[in-house]
Amino acid sequence: MKNKKIIFITGVAGMLGSELIKKLLSPKNIIIGVDNFKLGKKKFIKNYLEAKNFHFFNIDLSKKIIHKLKFLKNIPFDFESMGTQKFKI
Ligand SMILES: NC(=O)c1ccc[n+]([C@@H]2O[C@H](COP(=O)([O-])OP(=O)(O)OC[C@H]3O[C@@H](n4cnc5c(N)ncnc54)[C@H](O)[C@@H]3O)[C@@H](O)[C@H]2O)c1
Repeated sequence: MKNKKIIFITGVAGMLGSELIKKLLSPKNIIIGVDNFKLGKKKFIKNYLEAKNFHFFNIDLSKKIIHKLKFLKNIPFDFESMGTQKFKI
């Protein structure tokens, strides 16, 4: 867990996002993906939804900042133990 990279992909169900997840999903990475399906499609990410190192959130990132950050509390790992204290949102 300690040496894993945390990668945040916005628009993960879109064209570029779904290509990124295809390239980046590996045991070395934890991917946090966000999309509101406004333009994206579930079919682009359905093969990854069961992956234990992929966490998907159906969220509209244009909403207020508090809404953007609330969902991070639900991610089941401890950022500090991963040495990511310097990581700022
Ligand atoms: N290579 C190809 O076959 C191909 C096909 C189509 C498009 N393209 C190119 O891809 C580019 C577009 O790709 P893209 O990935 O930037 O766009 P995209 O529209 O494919 O993806 C954007 C994603 O962001 C999501 N999104 C938008 N607003 C959001 C919000 N407020 N909160 C959360 N999610 C939100 C959308 O639902 C969508 O899934 C264009 O340049 C286009 O020309 C290439």
